[in-house]
Amino acid sequence: MYFIMSLHRLIYLSYARPGIGYTDLRQIMDKSEVNNMKAGVTGMLCFGNNVFLQILEGNRKVVNQTYSRIAKDDRHHSPEIIDFRAIEHRHFGEWSMKLVQLDEMTSGSFRQLIFKFSDVQSFVPETMTAEQCFQFMKELYVLSSVV
Ligand SMILES: Cc1cc2nc3c(=O)[nH]c(=O)nc-3n(C[C@H](O)[C@H](O)[C@H](O)COP(=O)(O)O)c2cc1C
Repeated sequence: MYFIMSLHRLIYLSYARPGIGYTDLRQIMDKSEVNNMKAGVTGMLCFGNNVFLQILEGNRKVVNQTYSRIAKDDRHHSPEIIDFRAIEHRHFGEWSMKLVQLDEMTSGSFRQLIFKFSDVQSFVPETMTAEQCFQFMKELYVLSSVV
């Protein structure tokens, strides 16, 4: 009974297993696209400095189920929930899961965006608040859609 539960978003960070590469990311994205589309989950997965920062939006129960599955995945470890709340509307509704590989984003505007929401020049989401993570991903979503 999905429809009686409200729209939520969850943000978490985790640490990539050493040696994670393009093939792993591709496999994660392929699964995510299929599963999230079916479940009505949308969001963004940022990867940089061997850290994942992901936002999941959708029905509360489904977001919980998706996160529980992801948290057990041995391609990353030590996941930490940064935020989980009811939301009025989606911000990442166009993507079942959008991957942004920050290490490949070398342009000035991407660098500036990292610095805008952080006290350091590199991507270290552990130092960012829930609101900073959310704003960062919102702006990253716009920026990575235009370039
Ligand atoms: C960082 C990370 C993010 C992931 N994101 C998603 C996701 O958004 N949706 C999803 O279904 N699986 C995601 N996965 C994969 C899940 O951990 C799991 O492998 C997958 O959901 C299993 O799908 P299956 O039961 O259909 O085989 C992610 C894995 C990692 C490591």
